[in-house]
Amino acid sequence: MQTTTHEPDRFGMSASQLESLSKREPLLWANSNYAPLAAVDAQRLDPARALARFKRHAATLRRVFAELEASAGQVSSALEPANALAAVLGDVPAGALGQCSAQPSPHEAVRGNWWIKRDDALPVAGSVKARGGFHEVLSVAEDLLARRGVECELDAPEASRIFGQYTISVGSTGNLGLSIGLIAARLGFRAVVHMSSDAKAWKKQRLRSHGIQVVEHEGDYAAAVAAGREQSEADPFSHFVDDEHSVQLFLGYSAAAEELAVQLNTHGVVVDEAHPLFVYIPCGVGGAPGGIAYGLKQRYGRAVHCFFAEPVASPCMLLQLASAPGQSVSVYDIGLDNRTEADGLAVPSASPLVAPLMRKMLSGVFTVDDETLFLDTYLLHQSMGLQVEPSAAASFRGPLWLRLSAEGKLYQKQSGLEHLMDQANHVIWSTGGSLVPEAEHSKFQDKGRGLSAAHPRA
Ligand SMILES: Cc1ncc(COP(=O)(O)O)c(C=O)c1O
Repeated sequence: MQTTTHEPDRFGMSASQLESLSKREPLLWANSNYAPLAAVDAQRLDPARALARFKRHAATLRRVFAELEASAGQVSSALEPANALAAVLGDVPAGALGQCSAQPSPHEAVRGNWWIKRDDALPVAGSVKARGGFHEVLSVAEDLLARRGVECELDAPEASRIFGQYTISVGSTGNLGLSIGLIAARLGFRAVVHMSSDAKAWKKQRLRSHGIQVVEHEGDYAAAVAAGREQSEADPFSHFVDDEHSVQLFLGYSAAAEELAVQLNTHGVVVDEAHPLFVYIPCGVGGAPGGIAYGLKQRYGRAVHCFFAEPVASPCMLLQLASAPGQSVSVYDIGLDNRTEADGLAVPSASPLVAPLMRKMLSGVFTVDDETLFLDTYLLHQSMGLQVEPSAAASFRGPLWLRLSAEGKLYQKQSGLEHLMDQANHVIWSTGGSLVPEAEHSKFQDKGRGLSAAHPRA
């Protein structure tokens, strides 16, 4: 089906918003269903379960992965001050901000404090998908041993013998595959990753180099997931990690909230209604950002405001949340092509598990074009010396959207935040990068440098 600018009702937004979205114009969409006190359902989905599971297996993880030695088996990443990035982004010329076009002074841009959550450097798997992937494999491994009445550590020879009879498979744009594949293979499972044939070559290569089987499929990420699910269902000795529906993935991601809370506390950051916390997270199918937002809402309630970032070609969560509940929509329905350099975010339809959970919890979604991703990847390197993959840079302009766009100002006003912005903290979630080969980083940097030169500073 093609463009539907005459169908704004179907997608629950104004005709002009829908037109901007289908024309790939970057925008901030504030969620009209947002309910600041939307409660998490801890009976059904309790992040504490994931935290307990990670703790139970920390010693095993430490033995199995040398990279987790320093953290005593904890899968965690640093939180770092990012006002240097704020200053550089505030200095970017108006045109590069899409509709968020007011030219901020550096002072304006750094009102409040900026932080960067370094999931790009999460040990072993190098992306935000690590906590979820590890958590699901740990849970599958626990279940298999329990069903056989075997009591031992997950890396004991007896456990490996059992796991060796099983396959763990997953459909992935790459980073979830790395996370699942690496831990599954290390515990002795056969690991299979289903990917679309246009997934990044280096990701496929890296998976194969770890003995993980890569199956390539024509079509997009959703097609790879569907094919993987089907193949796995035909094999009773196979477990399929379902990125679109998995509760165990979701809970694993949600563990990041407690980690962030401890880190903010250590930095002396107060989060309460007078000191709002804004969190901006890149979104693909929605599992990782959804789990994090869910955990943060449980922890901070109305004091935290979560925004997702999506590519202009793949705003699947935005579209799903704007549309009436119960109908499944895809970015193809509004004439978009789901083609973006942010491969981790190239997803046509949002997770049917996560979208309903975010319906009232999420403050909004902003979109970003590919040029801005490369430019911001470069600007991060210039300002802080960090190298991330383009998907990770999607979140960087969140605070600018909130502070400078008409939609962002309205959100502040309606939420009674205008006079609190000086004491706000903004966490931009950097979601992937440390496993990217140096040659790829160089290409990203070259593109970003070229764009930066093409937009000389005013
Ligand atoms: C680097 C990166 N950021 C963000 C995401 C988004 O996670 P999700 O697809 O769970 O929304 C992904 C997904 O693979 C990713 O690889």
